[in-house]
Amino acid sequence: MPGSRRRQRGVLLAGIALLLAALVLAVVLASVFMPGREASGGRPLRWQDRGTTRNLREIVLGRCYSYLAERHPALGRDTDCLKIWESLKYAFIYKNPCNTTAEDYQPLMELASHPIPCNKSLFWSKTNDLAHRYTKSSHGFLTLEDTLLGYMFDGVSWCGDPSVPGINYESCPKRSECESNPGSVFWKTASKRFAEAACGVVQVMLNGSIEAGAFRSSSIFGSIEVFNLNPDKVSEIQIWLMHDIGGPQSESCSGHSIQRLKRILEERNFTITCEDNYRPVQLLQCVRNPDHEDCRLCPSSMETS
Ligand SMILES: *[C@@H]1O[C@H](CO)[C@@H](O)[C@H](O)[C@H]1NC(C)=O
Ligand SMILES: *[C@@H]1O[C@H](CO)[C@@H](O)[C@H](O)[C@H]1NC(C)=O
Ligand SMILES: *[C@@H]1O[C@H](CO)[C@@H](O)[C@H](O)[C@H]1NC(C)=O
Ligand SMILES: *[C@@H]1O[C@H](CO)[C@@H](O)[C@H](O)[C@H]1NC(C)=O
Repeated sequence: MPGSRRRQRGVLLAGIALLLAALVLAVVLASVFMPGREASGGRPLRWQDRGTTRNLREIVLGRCYSYLAERHPALGRDTDCLKIWESLKYAFIYKNPCNTTAEDYQPLMELASHPIPCNKSLFWSKTNDLAHRYTKSSHGFLTLEDTLLGYMFDGVSWCGDPSVPGINYESCPKRSECESNPGSVFWKTASKRFAEAACGVVQVMLNGSIEAGAFRSSSIFGSIEVFNLNPDKVSEIQIWLMHDIGGPQSESCSGHSIQRLKRILEERNFTITCEDNYRPVQLLQCVRNPDHEDCRLCPSSMETS
């Protein structure tokens, strides 16, 4: 009797052990053959740039509604902010962030696009702050960041990740890690469209205090916008070359990099002009440097009168 009970207990223990072994095997097999499952518990991929902006959805939606309400009420009827957010989301979530394509953003670009009046496009390079102070004070001029698309995504970052929740809030790839990252591809695509849409007289604000030259072929302006302006639509390109008040005058309109830009544009049959320190813009710089001699109302006549 005791022997058979012991044998019974032995069989039971063996059974339990077998069951446990089968369970372990099943888990191992599942994790081998279902990488998606494994990823869902895993850590997001690690990159060197900052991660997706927290509350991205709320920021994008808020900016979208605010743009429609404050800047462009006429757009309100045809623009659906929720759809815009959804199309951004589908452009990147759960995707490897190094595999972004312009096509991913096509629906977003279509949904957020709106007409840009002729003579009002302002391109800029290395004059971010001044260019936007100018468009804020001169109604009607638009940089890319003053269009709905640029306004919604200026200064925020985003990227996807194969693991749950499909968005990487920890880190996103730098351009040096991969060229086709969500941010770079987005801004390239948006800049290309912004340049294609320009018509009439087009303005470009460049920085004459940059030692390496005001025009850089590697910039978004130099590598994308210049080559997507349409000579059939653009009648003239006006360069405003701005120097920092009291700062170095590294380059004037006759400088090397400006001459290079002129050659590129003239080869593409554009008419081009360049003005050093375009006065309406310089006056904005003077607001912060009212006592500097460049900012006197009548710079040369003051002494003689
Ligand atoms: C990127 O996309 C290509 C083509 O769709 C694919 O062959 C490749 O495996 C993808 N790479 C990554 C890292 O997902
Ligand atoms: C754009 O500017 C040009 C030249 O100053 C002018 O002839 C044209 O009428 C302007 N177009 C619009 C739409 O204002
Ligand atoms: C020119 O570039 C320098 C260095 O990036 C910057 O400090 C300065 O504000 C820029 N000037 C203008 C007019 O934007
Ligand atoms: C520029 O204009 C000339 C003369 O009208 C024409 O022959 C040439 O093909 C044009 N170049 C470009 C790049 O459009």
